Amino acid sequence: MNFDVESIRKQFPALERKVNGFQAAYLDCPGGTQVPQRVVDKVVDYLVWHNCNIHGAFATSIETDSIILEGRKAFADLLGCSWEEISFGGNSTSINFNLAHAIARDLKPGDEVLITDIDHEANRGPWELLEERGITVQNVKVDLDHCIIDMADYKAKLNARTRVVAFNYASNGVGTISDVEKMVAMAHEAGALTVVDAVNYVLHGPVDVKKIDTDFLICSAYKLFGPHIGILYAKKEKMEALRTIKVKEQENWAPLKFETGTLNHEGIAGAAEAIEFIASVGEKYEADFEKELKGLTGRRRKVIAGMLALEAYEQPLTEFLLDELEKIPGVKVYGPPKGHPRTSTVSFTMKQRSPREVAEYLAEKGIFVWDGDFFASKLVYVLGLRESGGLIRIGLSPYNTKNELERTLQALRELA
Ligand SMILES: Cc1ncc(COP(=O)(O)O)c(C=O)c1O
Repeated sequence: MNFDVESIRKQFPALERKVNGFQAAYLDCPGGTQVPQRVVDKVVDYLVWHNCNIHGAFATSIETDSIILEGRKAFADLLGCSWEEISFGGNSTSINFNLAHAIARDLKPGDEVLITDIDHEANRGPWELLEERGITVQNVKVDLDHCIIDMADYKAKLNARTRVVAFNYASNGVGTISDVEKMVAMAHEAGALTVVDAVNYVLHGPVDVKKIDTDFLICSAYKLFGPHIGILYAKKEKMEALRTIKVKEQENWAPLKFETGTLNHEGIAGAAEAIEFIASVGEKYEADFEKELKGLTGRRRKVIAGMLALEAYEQPLTEFLLDELEKIPGVKVYGPPKGHPRTSTVSFTMKQRSPREVAEYLAEKGIFVWDGDFFASKLVYVLGLRESGGLIRIGLSPYNTKNELERTLQALRELA
């Protein structure tokens, strides 16, 4: 595949930014991506021409209803489901708190929820809070040498009392992709519901919620070229059965019954356009992925082609970054071993330099990377890195270039 990165970069106005005379290098995507101009235009278009609340008799309200429906359809095409299975919310964390509280209405003391040490706090905190109601929360361990979920521990902790299992698709801390299909199947066998956090994964590969068969999945549009909104996929029958937390006037049918108050309409308009952007990339590369796209039609086919193309561009860059980091004296990379599925989220430490010191040094040169625990706090704690400031995290998105990585590596070599 001959990926035209310049045609992508041209669409992102933020990439023009300079810091201290250096071209800004946005290697911070696990915290959120930049947005293409077309997404900005859609947000502005909504606010200027359609700005309104829902379900009214007049033009702007009717248009708002249809923009929200289009947003649901766009995310249904991203995730591989029906629009009736897509609810919107403020962000993944608040969606998950609402979900946990709704599910908990049907749990009783002694029931168990299984979470993992590799997860972001957004998929731990909402479940830990249920301990207040007498629900037991168990933690699945991580194999610390490889930053992979310990599947033997997972198996051992699943039992007849387990009612919910919550785990991530990919780790925002170290990039490990988990075997979600297997984990969902094991949870279902035990009779538990599954909640998959796909916030880090969703930028890095195609999602097929029907194939992985999860009951619920959360993701956030701002990690995927869109504005700051959160998305919940819920199997229709599970949402129908759920006693959601809502005012009684709110419609009681899926997917609206999960939504509280007025949504972020301009955010939804922009997020749907972000999916259109991915589809527009896919249109160019469909021929490269005939085998993977077999049986897919319409926008879903283009979106999947887009995700495959973006990832095919990023993976060799990730390998280059990993190989070069390993050569820098004092650098220790944390994450899955070569060959294990991973995203382009790469984390490491540097001997005698705190993560903040490294991030500041790079920032001076216009290179944006994260330091700390990124709310993958339990993982950073079990890795023993909390006291020393956590990790330095480089995250690639499809607008990054090899040149940006070379600049970063050079700066790290100087620092080392
Ligand atoms: C894996 C993962 N889960 C959940 C979240 C929280 O998402 P939100 O900010 O939309 O609540 C993040 C944000 O960084 C994340 O990386």
